[in-house]
Amino acid sequence: MTARHFLTLDDLTGDELAALLRRAAELRAAHHAGTLHEPLRGRVLGMIFEKASTRTRVSFEAGMAQLGGSAIFLSPRDSQLGRGEPIEDTARVLSSMVDAVMIRTFGHDNVERFAAASSVPVINGLTDDHHPCQLLADLQTWQAHVGDPAGRTVAWMGDGNNMCRSWMQAAEKLGFELRIGCPAAYAPADLDRFSASRHCDDPAEAVANADLVATDVWASMGMEDETNDRMQAFLPYQVDAGLMAGAADEALFMHCLPAHRGEEVTAEVIDGPRSVVWEEAENRLHAQKALLEWLLAGDHRG
Ligand code: CP
Ligand code: NVA
Repeated sequence: MTARHFLTLDDLTGDELAALLRRAAELRAAHHAGTLHEPLRGRVLGMIFEKASTRTRVSFEAGMAQLGGSAIFLSPRDSQLGRGEPIEDTARVLSSMVDAVMIRTFGHDNVERFAAASSVPVINGLTDDHHPCQLLADLQTWQAHVGDPAGRTVAWMGDGNNMCRSWMQAAEKLGFELRIGCPAAYAPADLDRFSASRHCDDPAEAVANADLVATDVWASMGMEDETNDRMQAFLPYQVDAGLMAGAADEALFMHCLPAHRGEEVTAEVIDGPRSVVWEEAENRLHAQKALLEWLLAGDHRG
């Protein structure tokens, strides 16, 4: 049996994504009701973090514990990965000991190389190019508020970064429009391949009547040297009350967090009534439990 991996949203069919989001909502309700559900008793998740994390680490570790299993945290500072042991060798060894591996790293090719050498499922916990676990939580949150996203519009404001690319894949899969409001120099290079997404130089055009406005930090992890240039370039795309006024009346605001108030979003918006960022963060737990359950105990495993 070949392991299924979750490196980008494209690793799920539309039906699999829909089923996973339904399951995430059920697991959220069960968790709130205090129901014990431990299908992964005795199973172990290895977690490799080459970048910092609060939500991803805690949601995977708590999620495994709640499902009856456990998780092991590894960083390059205290593992042989940081001393140059090849990714493929690490993948081969870890996958002989644990049941799944989650990786947060820089180049997306790192997770692809790890997955190619791994006999157990590999989950992308964020690379420079994608953040698919965050999208599971965002889509779960959006569906809880509006039902089916098909035919709706999302305005992505700011950097054409890893989160933006995962939103682009989600738009293709779920049939909504994605307008990317950002300076042309920072738009995703492969935008032409995504028929549901388009670039808008003009921030007002990007948000016009949008059902959901989402943003993220202007300098992602690893881009700290570019911070000053980016602050200047992205300022017109800050999500403030004036910009939100151009979106649909009931438009929601999302941010994967951590947020920089006064930069990509004002405090008035992120702490205001349209913001669903806390629900979005909590849903990391439920959506990833659905993912872990599916990868480790799902029907597709034959
Ligand atoms: N949104 C997100 O992935 O947060 P962390 O960096 O805290 O994991
Ligand atoms: N785009 C951000 C997301 C952090 C969760 C980064 O890569 O730093």
